[in-house]
Amino acid sequence: MNVNRKVLTLDEFTIQQLRMFPNATGELSNLLRDMGLAAKRVNVEVNKAGLVDILGDAGTINVQGEDVKKLDIFANNQFMGVLRHGISCAGIGSEEMDEFVVFDDEISNNSKYVCLFDPLDGSGNIDVNVSIGTIFSVYRRVSERGKPCTKEDFLQPGRKQVAAGYIVYGSSTMMVYATRRGVNGFTLDPSIGEFTLSHPDIKCPESGKVYSVNHGNFFQYEDRVKAYIDACQKKNRDNGGPYTQRYIGSMVADVHRNLIKGGIFMYPTTIDKPKGKLRLLYECNPFAFIVEVAGGRATNGKQRILDIQPTELHQRSSLFIGSKNMMDELDTYLNQ
Ligand code: AHG
Repeated sequence: MNVNRKVLTLDEFTIQQLRMFPNATGELSNLLRDMGLAAKRVNVEVNKAGLVDILGDAGTINVQGEDVKKLDIFANNQFMGVLRHGISCAGIGSEEMDEFVVFDDEISNNSKYVCLFDPLDGSGNIDVNVSIGTIFSVYRRVSERGKPCTKEDFLQPGRKQVAAGYIVYGSSTMMVYATRRGVNGFTLDPSIGEFTLSHPDIKCPESGKVYSVNHGNFFQYEDRVKAYIDACQKKNRDNGGPYTQRYIGSMVADVHRNLIKGGIFMYPTTIDKPKGKLRLLYECNPFAFIVEVAGGRATNGKQRILDIQPTELHQRSSLFIGSKNMMDELDTYLNQ
């Protein structure tokens, strides 16, 4: 059989990166490979969602007051499980869980990192076969190694992330992750069951033609946000347009498209959700890190997302994220 040695798997890529740093311990590479393994398990179940009884509400309400679907629970257990049994992670925080979890054993207490994740984002789209995703972020712990991790490890500003990534379960399944050195995308090759490097060194185009926002909330947005959305709709050939509106309702899919093709994604505050809908730690911070490393920008409308000091695990935030020039243009409206 011919094996294409030019195509690197996720495991080969992380090992290759590790070899560039002779003093590295390999803990981050291990953690990223663990995430890839859990993603493959979740992908199998997501693919079967229309076939088996795993589909549908689990009948409980999560800490955000939202219905929990069975696949959310399955995904949560998979990601928590690989990290618990790995050697790199001292504890986790999950969008599905009220409190963070400390893996209080000797190996975990000596681990360097903590991980936060949203195991299945866009879960409202499961029942209708629309793309959903997983989002994660990795921080170096600030608590003393050798002891259980603490809440302070999880409440670090986003700029302290060591790595962040997402998996999009879509027409193909992709894992994209960023470290300070760059953003790389891996597509799951079903023939070998491995993520393979398909999008090396992703850069977010400086400009784009797509704006993504829930238009149904338009009359609940602040006037300055409405003015920007109006301007997006009035774009024509003479002023850099036309712009196109695209909104899937799965942030992972929406931001993934805009990261690759250029665009802006917005989830502003509304009258009903004065603090915003998206979670700072599980959704905004990881995407802000990825998009900034790729050359884009992310703010809450007033402040860089990555500079916000979190005070609670399940804190919400407004979010504006995307191509640099589009974000700069948005600022001219928000600063008026
Ligand atoms: P959930 O996981 O509860 O379905 O939330 C999805 C998130 C995010 O992925 C998406 O962009 C946004 O909520 C959509 O919210 P609206 O339906 O309010 O536009």
